[in-house]
Amino acid sequence: MKAVIFVGGFGTRLRPLTCNTPKAMVPVYDEPFIHVVLERLKAYGITDVILAISHLSNQIEEHFGDGCEHGMHITYVHEDENNPLGTGGALKNAAKYIDGTFLAMNGDIVSNININRMLNYHKSYKAKMTIALHKVDNPSQYGLVKISYDNKVESFIEKPKADEVNTDTINAGIYIMEPEILDLIPEGVNCSLEHETFPKILSEGLPFYAYVDDSYWLDIGTPEKYFKLLTSYMTGELRNNIFHKITDVVLRAGFVSAATSTLKGPVYMGKNALIKDNVFVRGPVVIGDNVIIEEGARLENVILWDNAHIGKNVKLNVVVGANNITFEDDTEVSGTVIGDNVVIRKGCPKVVDCDIQPDTVVDNLDKLTQG
Ligand code: GDD
Ligand code: MG
Repeated sequence: MKAVIFVGGFGTRLRPLTCNTPKAMVPVYDEPFIHVVLERLKAYGITDVILAISHLSNQIEEHFGDGCEHGMHITYVHEDENNPLGTGGALKNAAKYIDGTFLAMNGDIVSNININRMLNYHKSYKAKMTIALHKVDNPSQYGLVKISYDNKVESFIEKPKADEVNTDTINAGIYIMEPEILDLIPEGVNCSLEHETFPKILSEGLPFYAYVDDSYWLDIGTPEKYFKLLTSYMTGELRNNIFHKITDVVLRAGFVSAATSTLKGPVYMGKNALIKDNVFVRGPVVIGDNVIIEEGARLENVILWDNAHIGKNVKLNVVVGANNITFEDDTEVSGTVIGDNVVIRKGCPKVVDCDIQPDTVVDNLDKLTQG
């Protein structure tokens, strides 16, 4: 079975992390997120994958190429970077590569849904489309799916208003479809599966079934959920064959850590970490390659990508940051999401609950937006 993965969204809710990095390439330890998704498909024998790309797509293509290094065959279908086609348009764009029952999925979710079972289920119902569903506490930010006693989809409401919420089962963003579904999508125009195609499948009365699954499921679309993803691997709540449970401290090759420093797991640091005297790090903390942490710095609940420089006596608590961030001596940051190439200048007042855009030099709080 082939798979089409939608990876062309703007990643708006993950900004400023995704200003220069597509959501699919956001790092999970030292791998881009989409690698996790591809490995999961590979575990089910799905190695022929079509990536529907758009925003900052060259980074995905450059990293994975034709996929053979990863034991896969990857085909790319492109959309205009500034004018993507929507999930339906992206799927239609991939139609020429589809030749039988296929899987389609959002490229920003991790789940333990058993694809083989879902496929058997799809076949046993002779469905034209089967949608995976997951129960969540706050369904309003998702696609809401109401089903009948015999698992037929009865209604689909994307991002329901408060008074429209009539169930807690939501679209998990994983679909098995027959090629006929592609005939319902117009060619070459923007189209949303969720807003247009799914309601159309219902109005045409095609066999549209729900596969409810309560295993681990997460959409990484916000900084909080991205944080949750990394901690899920640390606790072992989520496992795969790339990452292992990290309960203690993992420092990759080339690290130097002063004996006077304390690191309390779960902590992961990429290659060449330099940790100076009297540093205190309490996990969960995940930092990319080439970090320098100067004397007396304290970090708790921190994710930083590559090339971070953390000055003397800096205090970071609940911080998620992209590449090349410098915290000058004595600065304090909490509850904040930071884009690439930011400098927090010495003497800046404590930064609390902000989003900091890429390439900003922060010496006062005047221009910062509240996160
Ligand atoms: N190629 C392409 N083109 N991909 C797109 C486009 C597009 O125009 N728009 C979005 N995508 C990709 C995104 O990159 C993401 O991987 C996926 O499609 C879903 O888009 P999101 O923007 O993350 O949607 P959402 O999370 O608000 O809602 C969707 O996912 C929920 C589950 O996580 C919907 O499918 C909901 O119904 C669902 O519950
Ligand atoms: Mg999403």
